[in-house]
Amino acid sequence: MTRDEAKNKIIFALDVDNLKDIDGWAEKLSTKVGMFKVGKELFTSAGPAAVEAVKRHGGEVFLDLKYHDIPNTVAQAMLAAGRLGVKLANLHALGGPEMMEKASQAVRKEFSDNERPRLLAVTILTSSTQDTLKAVGIEHPVEEMVVRLAKLAKESGMDGVVASPLEIGAIRAACGPDFLIVTPGVRPSFAAVDDQKRIMTPAEAVKSGADYLVIGRPIAKATDPVQAAELIVDEIMAGGQ
Ligand code: C5P
Repeated sequence: MTRDEAKNKIIFALDVDNLKDIDGWAEKLSTKVGMFKVGKELFTSAGPAAVEAVKRHGGEVFLDLKYHDIPNTVAQAMLAAGRLGVKLANLHALGGPEMMEKASQAVRKEFSDNERPRLLAVTILTSSTQDTLKAVGIEHPVEEMVVRLAKLAKESGMDGVVASPLEIGAIRAACGPDFLIVTPGVRPSFAAVDDQKRIMTPAEAVKSGADYLVIGRPIAKATDPVQAAELIVDEIMAGGQ
Protein backbone atom coordinates (compact mmCIF):
# COMPACT_ATOMS: atom_id res chain seq x y z
CA MET A 1 0.00 0.00 0.00
CA THR A 2 1.32 3.45 -0.90
CA ARG A 3 1.48 6.29 1.64
CA ASP A 4 -1.28 8.08 -0.26
CA GLU A 5 -3.55 5.02 -0.17
CA ALA A 6 -3.02 4.70 3.60
CA LYS A 7 -3.66 8.43 4.14
CA ASN A 8 -6.86 8.28 2.07
CA LYS A 9 -8.30 5.70 4.47
CA ILE A 10 -8.35 8.18 7.36
CA ILE A 11 -11.53 10.18 7.99
CA PHE A 12 -10.93 12.82 10.67
CA ALA A 13 -14.02 13.34 12.90
CA LEU A 14 -14.60 17.11 13.03
CA ASP A 15 -16.25 17.00 16.45
CA VAL A 16 -16.38 20.79 16.84
CA ASP A 17 -19.30 23.24 16.84
CA ASN A 18 -18.10 26.29 14.92
CA LEU A 19 -16.64 27.37 11.59
CA LYS A 20 -13.47 28.88 13.01
CA ASP A 21 -12.37 25.52 14.42
CA ILE A 22 -13.11 23.83 11.08
CA ASP A 23 -10.79 26.27 9.33
CA GLY A 24 -8.03 25.47 11.82
CA TRP A 25 -8.36 21.70 11.44
CA ALA A 26 -8.88 21.69 7.68
CA GLU A 27 -5.84 23.90 7.16
CA LYS A 28 -3.69 21.59 9.31
CA LEU A 29 -4.97 18.24 8.12
CA SER A 30 -6.30 18.50 4.56
CA THR A 31 -3.10 17.01 3.13
CA LYS A 32 -2.69 14.55 6.04
CA VAL A 33 -6.02 12.70 6.01
CA GLY A 34 -8.36 11.53 3.26
CA MET A 35 -11.63 13.05 4.46
CA PHE A 36 -13.40 15.03 7.21
CA LYS A 37 -16.53 13.83 8.99
CA VAL A 38 -19.23 16.47 9.57
CA GLY A 39 -21.79 15.14 12.05
CA LYS A 40 -25.05 16.25 13.63
CA GLU A 41 -23.61 18.69 16.19
CA LEU A 42 -21.49 20.58 13.68
CA PHE A 43 -24.10 20.56 10.91
CA THR A 44 -26.83 21.74 13.29
CA SER A 45 -24.55 24.53 14.53
CA ALA A 46 -22.94 25.70 11.31
CA GLY A 47 -25.04 24.24 8.46
CA PRO A 48 -23.82 23.72 4.88
CA ALA A 49 -21.09 26.31 5.55
CA ALA A 50 -19.31 23.54 7.49
CA VAL A 51 -19.05 21.45 4.32
CA GLU A 52 -18.05 24.46 2.25
CA ALA A 53 -15.30 25.37 4.73
CA VAL A 54 -13.73 21.90 4.49
CA LYS A 55 -13.93 21.96 0.70
CA ARG A 56 -12.38 25.44 0.55
CA HIS A 57 -9.28 23.92 2.14
CA GLY A 58 -9.27 21.12 -0.41
CA GLY A 59 -10.77 18.48 1.91
CA GLU A 60 -13.45 15.88 1.12
CA VAL A 61 -16.51 15.38 3.35
CA PHE A 62 -18.35 12.45 4.92
CA LEU A 63 -21.74 13.92 5.91
CA ASP A 64 -22.70 11.82 8.94
CA LEU A 65 -26.36 12.80 9.47
CA LYS A 66 -27.81 9.25 9.60
CA TYR A 67 -31.14 9.98 7.91
CA HIS A 68 -34.20 7.92 8.90
CA ASP A 69 -37.53 9.19 7.57
CA ILE A 70 -40.14 8.44 4.91
CA PRO A 71 -38.54 7.39 1.60
CA ASN A 72 -39.28 10.62 -0.29
CA THR A 73 -37.84 12.84 2.47
CA VAL A 74 -34.64 10.78 2.73
CA ALA A 75 -34.21 10.74 -1.06
CA GLN A 76 -34.54 14.55 -1.19
CA ALA A 77 -32.11 14.97 1.72
CA MET A 78 -29.58 12.74 -0.08
CA LEU A 79 -29.94 14.84 -3.23
CA ALA A 80 -29.27 17.95 -1.15
CA ALA A 81 -26.16 16.27 0.31
CA GLY A 82 -25.01 15.41 -3.20
CA ARG A 83 -25.47 19.02 -4.32
CA LEU A 84 -23.24 20.11 -1.43
CA GLY A 85 -20.55 17.94 -2.99
CA VAL A 86 -20.02 15.47 -0.16
CA LYS A 87 -18.22 12.21 -0.93
CA LEU A 88 -20.00 10.00 1.63
CA ALA A 89 -23.43 10.34 3.30
CA ASN A 90 -25.46 7.93 5.41
CA LEU A 91 -28.87 6.74 6.60
CA HIS A 92 -30.26 4.12 8.99
CA ALA A 93 -30.83 0.71 7.39
CA LEU A 94 -33.73 0.24 9.84
CA GLY A 95 -35.63 2.75 7.66
CA GLY A 96 -36.15 -0.22 5.35
CA PRO A 97 -35.59 -1.25 1.72
CA GLU A 98 -37.90 1.27 0.06
CA MET A 99 -36.22 4.17 1.86
CA MET A 100 -32.76 2.97 0.81
CA GLU A 101 -33.81 2.18 -2.77
CA LYS A 102 -35.39 5.61 -3.29
CA ALA A 103 -32.27 7.35 -1.95
CA SER A 104 -29.97 5.26 -4.13
CA GLN A 105 -32.09 5.76 -7.27
CA ALA A 106 -32.38 9.50 -6.69
CA VAL A 107 -28.62 10.12 -6.45
CA ARG A 108 -27.84 7.76 -9.36
CA LYS A 109 -30.35 9.61 -11.52
CA GLU A 110 -29.09 13.11 -10.74
CA PHE A 111 -25.31 12.60 -10.61
CA SER A 112 -22.79 10.86 -12.83
CA ASP A 113 -21.09 7.83 -11.30
CA ASN A 114 -17.93 9.86 -10.63
CA GLU A 115 -19.77 12.70 -8.97
CA ARG A 116 -22.43 10.96 -6.93
CA PRO A 117 -21.97 10.62 -3.17
CA ARG A 118 -21.40 7.08 -1.96
CA LEU A 119 -24.27 6.09 0.34
CA LEU A 120 -23.64 4.21 3.56
CA ALA A 121 -26.09 2.53 5.91
CA VAL A 122 -25.82 2.37 9.68
CA THR A 123 -26.96 -1.11 10.76
CA ILE A 124 -27.34 -1.24 14.56
CA LEU A 125 -25.72 1.61 16.49
CA THR A 126 -22.78 0.27 18.48
CA SER A 127 -24.26 1.92 21.57
CA SER A 128 -27.20 -0.52 21.32
CA THR A 129 -27.16 -3.76 23.30
CA GLN A 130 -29.41 -6.82 23.26
CA ASP A 131 -31.57 -5.03 25.86
CA THR A 132 -31.92 -1.95 23.63
CA LEU A 133 -33.17 -4.12 20.77
CA LYS A 134 -35.54 -6.01 23.08
CA ALA A 135 -37.01 -2.75 24.36
CA VAL A 136 -38.04 -1.81 20.81
CA GLY A 137 -39.39 -5.28 20.02
CA ILE A 138 -36.44 -6.86 18.18
CA GLU A 139 -35.70 -10.32 19.55
CA HIS A 140 -32.79 -11.25 17.27
CA PRO A 141 -29.16 -11.11 18.48
CA VAL A 142 -27.28 -7.88 17.66
CA GLU A 143 -24.71 -9.66 15.44
CA GLU A 144 -27.45 -11.34 13.44
CA MET A 145 -29.22 -7.99 12.93
CA VAL A 146 -25.98 -6.29 11.83
CA VAL A 147 -25.36 -8.83 9.06
CA ARG A 148 -29.03 -8.98 8.07
CA LEU A 149 -29.22 -5.18 7.73
CA ALA A 150 -25.88 -4.99 5.89
CA LYS A 151 -27.16 -7.50 3.31
CA LEU A 152 -30.44 -5.62 3.01
CA ALA A 153 -28.51 -2.36 2.53
CA LYS A 154 -26.50 -3.93 -0.29
CA GLU A 155 -29.60 -5.35 -1.99
CA SER A 156 -31.23 -1.92 -1.68
CA GLY A 157 -28.43 -0.12 -3.55
CA MET A 158 -26.28 1.16 -0.69
CA ASP A 159 -22.54 1.38 -1.40
CA GLY A 160 -21.55 0.23 2.07
CA VAL A 161 -22.05 0.43 5.83
CA VAL A 162 -20.67 2.06 8.95
CA ALA A 163 -19.67 -0.70 11.36
CA SER A 164 -17.72 -1.43 14.52
CA PRO A 165 -14.26 -2.97 13.85
CA LEU A 166 -15.41 -6.26 15.35
CA GLU A 167 -18.21 -6.56 12.76
CA ILE A 168 -15.97 -6.07 9.71
CA GLY A 169 -15.22 -9.76 9.12
CA ALA A 170 -18.84 -10.93 9.18
CA ILE A 171 -19.99 -8.06 6.94
CA ARG A 172 -17.16 -8.56 4.44
CA ALA A 173 -18.00 -12.29 4.25
CA ALA A 174 -21.72 -11.58 3.73
CA CYS A 175 -21.47 -8.60 1.36
CA GLY A 176 -18.34 -9.24 -0.71
CA PRO A 177 -15.17 -7.31 -1.57
CA ASP A 178 -16.72 -4.23 -3.23
CA PHE A 179 -18.99 -3.20 -0.37
CA LEU A 180 -17.54 -0.20 1.52
CA ILE A 181 -16.92 -0.63 5.24
CA VAL A 182 -16.29 2.52 7.30
CA THR A 183 -15.31 1.97 10.90
CA PRO A 184 -14.97 4.19 13.99
CA GLY A 185 -13.70 2.71 17.27
CA VAL A 186 -10.11 2.74 16.01
CA ARG A 187 -7.23 3.47 18.35
CA PRO A 188 -3.61 3.73 17.18
CA SER A 189 -1.13 2.03 19.49
CA PHE A 190 0.16 5.42 20.79
CA ALA A 191 -3.26 6.81 21.79
CA ALA A 192 -5.57 6.68 24.82
CA VAL A 193 -8.60 4.43 24.57
CA ASP A 194 -11.02 7.24 25.76
CA ASP A 195 -14.59 5.91 26.01
CA GLN A 196 -14.23 3.53 23.07
CA LYS A 197 -14.78 -0.07 24.16
CA ARG A 198 -14.71 -2.40 21.19
CA ILE A 199 -11.56 -1.14 19.52
CA MET A 200 -8.87 -2.19 17.04
CA THR A 201 -5.68 -0.52 15.90
CA PRO A 202 -5.72 1.11 12.43
CA ALA A 203 -3.58 -1.69 11.00
CA GLU A 204 -5.84 -4.40 12.42
CA ALA A 205 -8.98 -2.68 11.13
CA VAL A 206 -7.53 -2.30 7.62
CA LYS A 207 -6.32 -5.92 7.66
CA SER A 208 -9.81 -7.04 8.70
CA GLY A 209 -11.17 -5.33 5.59
CA ALA A 210 -12.08 -1.73 6.54
CA ASP A 211 -11.99 0.74 3.63
CA TYR A 212 -12.07 3.87 5.81
CA LEU A 213 -11.28 4.57 9.48
CA VAL A 214 -13.08 7.36 11.37
CA ILE A 215 -10.61 8.80 13.87
CA GLY A 216 -11.21 11.80 16.14
CA ARG A 217 -9.54 12.22 19.52
CA PRO A 218 -6.29 10.32 18.80
CA ILE A 219 -5.56 13.14 16.34
CA ALA A 220 -7.52 16.05 17.87
CA LYS A 221 -6.17 15.59 21.39
CA ALA A 222 -2.58 14.80 20.41
CA THR A 223 0.11 17.34 21.35
CA ASP A 224 1.02 17.42 17.68
CA PRO A 225 -2.05 16.45 15.59
CA VAL A 226 -0.19 16.53 12.26
CA GLN A 227 2.42 14.14 13.62
CA ALA A 228 -0.34 11.92 15.06
CA ALA A 229 -1.99 11.68 11.62
CA GLU A 230 1.37 10.79 10.09
CA LEU A 231 2.00 8.12 12.74
CA ILE A 232 -1.39 6.58 11.94
CA VAL A 233 -0.45 6.45 8.24
CA ASP A 234 2.83 4.73 9.29
CA GLU A 235 0.87 2.19 11.36
CA ILE A 236 -1.51 1.41 8.49
CA MET A 237 1.42 0.96 6.09
CA ALA A 238 3.41 -1.18 8.54
CA GLY A 239 0.47 -3.55 8.91
CA GLY A 240 -0.56 -3.22 5.29
CA GLN A 241 -0.90 -5.74 2.52
O1 C5P B 1 -12.69 10.55 19.03
P1 C5P B 1 -13.03 9.23 18.39
O2 C5P B 1 -11.92 8.69 17.53
O3 C5P B 1 -13.56 8.23 19.37
O4 C5P B 1 -14.20 9.65 17.40
C1 C5P B 1 -14.85 8.76 16.60
C2 C5P B 1 -15.98 9.43 15.85
O5 C5P B 1 -16.82 8.39 15.36
C3 C5P B 1 -16.88 10.34 16.69
O6 C5P B 1 -17.39 11.35 15.83
C4 C5P B 1 -17.98 9.42 17.14
O7 C5P B 1 -19.21 10.08 17.34
C5 C5P B 1 -18.09 8.45 15.96
N1 C5P B 1 -18.58 7.11 16.33
C6 C5P B 1 -17.98 6.33 17.31
N2 C5P B 1 -18.43 5.08 17.59
C7 C5P B 1 -19.46 4.60 16.95
C8 C5P B 1 -20.08 5.35 15.96
C9 C5P B 1 -19.62 6.61 15.67
O8 C5P B 1 -17.01 6.74 17.92
N3 C5P B 1 -19.85 3.41 17.24
